[in-house]
Amino acid sequence: MKVLSLVLSAFVYTVVSDGLSISRRGASADGLDGVRNLVKRKIPSHADSFIFEKTNGTGDAFTISDIKKGAIKVQCTTISACSRGLYTYLTQYGGVDISWTGSNLHLISSPLPQVGKSLKGESIVPYRYHFNTVTFSYTTAFYHFDQWSDLLDWMALKGTNLPLSWVGYEYILLQVFREVGLTDSDISDFLSGPAFQAWNRFGNIQGNWGGALPAQWINDQFTLQKQIIQRMVELGMTPVLPSFTGFVPRALAKLYPNASIVTGSQWSGFPTNLTQDQFLDPFDPLFSQIQTSFIKKQKQAYGDVSHIYTLDQYNENEPFSGDLDYLRNVSSNTFNSLRAADPKAIWMAQGWLFFSDSAFWNLDRISAYLSGVTDPDGMIILDLYSEAQPQWQRTQSYFGKTWIWCELHDYGGNQGFEGNLINVTAAPIAALSSTGSSMKGIGLTMEGQEGNDIDYDILLDQAWSSTSIDIPSYIASWAARRYVVKNLPSEAKQAWAILGATVYNNSDTNSQATVKSILELAPAISGLTGQGGHHPTKIFYDTNSSIVPALNLLLQASNKNPLLLNSPEFAHDVVDLGRQLLANRFVDVYNTLITIYNSPNSTSPDITSASKPLLTILSDLDDLLYTNKDFLLSTWIKQARDWAQSPKNATYAAYLEYNARNQVTLWGPTGQINDYASKQWAGLVGTYYLPRWQLFTTYLADIKKNGTAYNATDISGQMLSFGGEWDLRVWGQGKGEGWDTKGSTWKVLGDVVKKYA
Ligand SMILES: *[C@@H]1O[C@H](CO)[C@@H](O)[C@H](O)[C@H]1NC(C)=O
Ligand SMILES: *[C@@H]1O[C@H](CO)[C@@H](O)[C@H](O)[C@H]1NC(C)=O
Ligand SMILES: *[C@@H]1O[C@H](CO)[C@@H](O)[C@H](O)[C@H]1NC(C)=O
Ligand SMILES: *[C@@H]1O[C@H](CO)[C@@H](O)[C@H](O)[C@H]1NC(C)=O
Ligand SMILES: *[C@@H]1O[C@H](CO)[C@@H](O)[C@H](O)[C@H]1NC(C)=O
Ligand SMILES: *[C@@H]1O[C@H](CO)[C@@H](O)[C@H](O)[C@H]1NC(C)=O
Ligand SMILES: *[C@@H]1O[C@H](CO)[C@@H](O)[C@H](O)[C@H]1NC(C)=O
Ligand SMILES: *[C@@H]1O[C@H](CO)[C@@H](O)[C@H](O)[C@H]1NC(C)=O
Ligand SMILES: *[C@@H]1O[C@H](CO)[C@@H](O)[C@H](O)[C@H]1NC(C)=O
Ligand SMILES: *[C@@H]1O[C@H](CO)[C@@H](O)[C@H](O)[C@H]1NC(C)=O
Ligand SMILES: *[C@@H]1O[C@H](CO)[C@@H](O)[C@H](O)[C@H]1NC(C)=O
Repeated sequence: MKVLSLVLSAFVYTVVSDGLSISRRGASADGLDGVRNLVKRKIPSHADSFIFEKTNGTGDAFTISDIKKGAIKVQCTTISACSRGLYTYLTQYGGVDISWTGSNLHLISSPLPQVGKSLKGESIVPYRYHFNTVTFSYTTAFYHFDQWSDLLDWMALKGTNLPLSWVGYEYILLQVFREVGLTDSDISDFLSGPAFQAWNRFGNIQGNWGGALPAQWINDQFTLQKQIIQRMVELGMTPVLPSFTGFVPRALAKLYPNASIVTGSQWSGFPTNLTQDQFLDPFDPLFSQIQTSFIKKQKQAYGDVSHIYTLDQYNENEPFSGDLDYLRNVSSNTFNSLRAADPKAIWMAQGWLFFSDSAFWNLDRISAYLSGVTDPDGMIILDLYSEAQPQWQRTQSYFGKTWIWCELHDYGGNQGFEGNLINVTAAPIAALSSTGSSMKGIGLTMEGQEGNDIDYDILLDQAWSSTSIDIPSYIASWAARRYVVKNLPSEAKQAWAILGATVYNNSDTNSQATVKSILELAPAISGLTGQGGHHPTKIFYDTNSSIVPALNLLLQASNKNPLLLNSPEFAHDVVDLGRQLLANRFVDVYNTLITIYNSPNSTSPDITSASKPLLTILSDLDDLLYTNKDFLLSTWIKQARDWAQSPKNATYAAYLEYNARNQVTLWGPTGQINDYASKQWAGLVGTYYLPRWQLFTTYLADIKKNGTAYNATDISGQMLSFGGEWDLRVWGQGKGEGWDTKGSTWKVLGDVVKKYA
């Protein structure tokens, strides 16, 4: 397959000079200006109506009270408690909210509603954590600072105080690798493309397809990281910073023939030149040397902002040896390297490995690995998938190490409706109070941030409530403040009550993750439907008594109160429900097609006519998604290409676009994890999934006509080569490929409901 080639024979990175420590401009004595600035950004008309005051006290606690008519005082023990106190006021008294796709906080009534008797709140855990390492690729890969600013405001208001902070890692890494004598060409052979950095950071993959990582990317991300860190600190968050993990370019072994370097495992079927990363054993003195240099340079760049470091060595990457002494040796030397570089260092690790590779990680090995860290406060483990596959019980609360209860829920930014609200409310409370629990936090570790907001919001709210949140009343007030209209018709609350009892009450233990639609998968005559696991295609609920009535009720609500039509969140939700309706109906027409195909007396024209409804649904879906800004492929591509705006560089823009397209389709040079990060986005449905199903249904009709057998190798090969060709396209050049929304949601949705509900 042809891939873009930008690799130069003698690769040289031109980087901006480092040591540009972030400034502490405008920091107020009480440290609360970050929260004041947040108010200016989100509720500018009330910039002066909130008084924030730091008080003495332990933990994260706040008090909200009236000072005079239309003015509110928020007292807090920490910056994070202040922004959470503000959020509590805005949601509980102001009836407004903020989401991943937008904010209606500015719609709070004026003068501000009174509090009456003052209200106190307190977090039940010291840490409120956010991000999975891979969220930095699946969601924020191409974010510019304005998107980061919105996300950080969202996080601050919800009470997050411990965000992972991977952006710009490669800038520091480049410096330390140069320092040990590697050439830029050696380093460039190791680094992965802008949409795939998470897995390079994990040591799963190395190198790139589509071209070497450009210096401009490395520089721009470093600049971005300085803005992000500054904002995080202003908002009272402790960024979890990168560190040296041990993964190194292949050339290091030639440069240091005596260094102890081992080869990691092959990841997800990638060709060996793109995986099997080299790992410098932490007991080699070179490891500690690089660690010290890395942390020193990082501190120079960002300031003394954190002592918590993310460091994962065996995420989907099996250790070189299962020998208990080896594992203990690795962790002990890793930890010592951090402490040598920063005497207050705390090592944060994702606990995913203990679940995903539980065959390797038996209790003895987990215990040996964790025991290498002798300081009981020296490590934090993210129990990554607590709502479905918690590991803290079998590991006796990680043998006493601090750990955080995390909700994963979403793989690859897939979008299907799904949630298990009981397990993200009752379960963390039970974990916290369990005997001998060393749980110290609650957080989100979704792979991608796409939809199902309520399932995340409720967990973040649970972190501020010592008793398990009552789900039905939560849903009702959540829906009301999401739409912010006076006299919200009861139909809207009924719609959400139905969703709460159905799609958000998933008790199927074999499919605790967002449901993936088969329309996003490479077509085949079997194996698509009814799958469980992390990308379940089994629809665990009945569409006709969940999605359909919820959608109809919302539309009835908007008939009663047309003000709803002006709510962006309302428009988002009805498009989302319409999307799910079409996705689920697609399964029915697919099953019909396959039944006809399997029938020995069916003819080629039978196949052609049974294929039409599939293609029609895809085309209707594309039309519907095009009506809403939150469902556009063009947004993802534009964010990527915009990094090549100054200076304008068409080659670089095409490179970025290839990365963006490849991640959501082939995911790898030749479809290694094909369709893992698929999305129901306008443009992707119309120019990718639709042609793929066309190819497939035409093929079925042809073989019926020819009387030849179905050849899976043949048809999947055709689809892969279509994917390879599609990944190299430039958006805007094809027919109908615009950058903006088109069509009216209400018109398109009306047709969809008539046809499919
Ligand atoms: C808060 O604590 C500081 C330091 O212990 C003390 O100086 C100050 O008086 C305290 N303020 C209040 C309001 O208690
Ligand atoms: C590697 O070790 C060998 C044997 O101990 C020694 O002779 C050689 O000088 C070492 N090479 C380097 C580059 O340190
Ligand atoms: C990796 O190896 C494959 C063959 O297995 C080759 O086609 C490809 O060009 C190589 N890629 C890189 C980046 O070296
Ligand atoms: C770790 O292993 C190395 C190499 O075998 C050895 O030299 C070192 O003493 C070990 N360290 C610990 C802490 O076990
Ligand atoms: C969710 O399902 C459980 C059974 O799995 C049931 O007890 C509970 O009532 C359901 N919740 C709602 C809101 O329907
Ligand atoms: C809910 O969580 C518990 C453990 O916290 C787990 O045992 C149970 O299987 C989970 N329920 C589902 C439906 O996944
Ligand atoms: C759901 O509704 C559709 C459209 O009214 C209908 O064709 C289908 O049979 C229903 N399915 C079930 C499982 O009731
Ligand atoms: C094929 O034959 C079955 C009975 O054997 C019949 O029910 C069905 O309608 C036929 N299908 C077509 C497409 O002719
Ligand atoms: C454009 O970007 C490519 C890829 O990063 C780079 O090799 C080239 O030097 C850039 N051209 C200009 C004029 O900056
Ligand atoms: C069907 O037969 C025609 C004519 O021989 C041939 O061109 C075509 O490739 C065949 N298609 C399939 C899918 O076998
Ligand atoms: C199936 O298709 C592949 C790829 O086109 C081809 O190499 C193979 O011979 C075909 N198998 C059969 C049984 O025709």
